Amino acid sequence: MSAHETLRVELGKRSYEIQVGNGLLPSAGERIKPYLMQDRAIIITDENVAKLHLNVLKNSLVAANIKCHEIVLPAGEQTKDFNFLQNLVSQLLELNVERGTTLLALGGGVTGDLTGFTAAILLRGIDFIQIPTTLLSQVDSSVGGKTGINTRHGKNLVGAFYQPKLVLSDIDSLDTLAKREILAGYAEIAKYGLINNAKFFEWLEENGAALCEGNRELRRQAVIISCQTKANIVSTDERETGDRALLNLGHTFGHALEAEAGFSNRLLHGEAVAIGISLAFDVSLALGFCAREDVKRVRAHYKSVGLPSHPKDIFGMNWEIPSLMRHMKNDKKVKNGHIRLVLARGIGQAFVTDAIAMENVRDTLERITHS
Ligand SMILES: NC(=O)c1ccc[n+]([C@@H]2O[C@H](COP(=O)([O-])OP(=O)(O)OC[C@H]3O[C@@H](n4cnc5c(N)ncnc54)[C@H](O)[C@@H]3O)[C@@H](O)[C@H]2O)c1
Ligand SMILES: [Zn+2]
Repeated sequence: MSAHETLRVELGKRSYEIQVGNGLLPSAGERIKPYLMQDRAIIITDENVAKLHLNVLKNSLVAANIKCHEIVLPAGEQTKDFNFLQNLVSQLLELNVERGTTLLALGGGVTGDLTGFTAAILLRGIDFIQIPTTLLSQVDSSVGGKTGINTRHGKNLVGAFYQPKLVLSDIDSLDTLAKREILAGYAEIAKYGLINNAKFFEWLEENGAALCEGNRELRRQAVIISCQTKANIVSTDERETGDRALLNLGHTFGHALEAEAGFSNRLLHGEAVAIGISLAFDVSLALGFCAREDVKRVRAHYKSVGLPSHPKDIFGMNWEIPSLMRHMKNDKKVKNGHIRLVLARGIGQAFVTDAIAMENVRDTLERITHS
């Protein structure tokens, strides 16, 4: 087996390992076997990932004497809904899934979120393992146990906190991922530096461009630091009653922009996060929490790798401030005209506050969007 680094998410009985390395997929069977209750697993994946990586996984399972079935879903966010969930549950029951059967989520965050939620509710809970294949899922969605689907009322509104038994991140599987998707994942990597690790952000300023261009060693290091940061935060606050909210840096703005863009290909989640984080720094500056230099550094960095940092960077969108404000209000983070936001006192110094007046947010949005 090729070498890997092991991280741990410490959650008492629900603790688990994250294995990160190169060439892990061809040996996935051997790696997974100790975590299975039966010599059987069911792979859930999407059609893009199936074409590229399913055979390697299946061959490794066969080599480890693990019987496997696969269910291949269409690619895209639309599979995270009640219809696909119901369909998936039916298909799994037809395969005679048992309490001891493990689901393997092979793919990006969409596959991971849907598979995790299915595992949480099927037979009142069966095991699942995350095998993330996008940068975003390797550094974010596969770790921490948030699972769920969307409804017509909004994203991720139905779900469960349900931890996987193992996360297996093969850096090499990122080689087939489109550059735009790599960049979307990168926005979340930079987020970890901006939350609480200024040294990591400096390292990204040096290495981010080469990482995005395809350097596997830099990707490996960044995935490890990102997962470690997320694991530490999740270990202290699994259900987001405190510090886990820091991981939402840029996300209140980001979700409003995504909603305005109709959760479409015009604006990927990571792109919205890069703009949202820049806006969070704008508000932090306007309220005197951070320096102008910090805001410049954040924007310059996202720009240097090819990410947007400004609403006007999104071609063809005409942002309506009242509508963005409405989306933010719907985020259930507003009380008595004040919004709960993650702001920053500088690079690596994010904090949560619920005392920011909506007028301050609107003023900044107006100034930035029309500048
Ligand atoms: N659970 C959490 O904590 C959490 C955190 C962040 C995001 N999310 C969720 O994650 C989802 C987004 O995840 P995503 O960005 O990974 O999207 P995704 O799963 O849709 O993957 C993006 C695209 O890349 C393709 N793809 C995946 N792996 C590939 C590979 N190795 N090579 C080529 N193509 C590949 C997919 O088929 C898809 O078309 C959203 O639904 C979001 O809500 C969840
Ligand atoms: Zn995110």
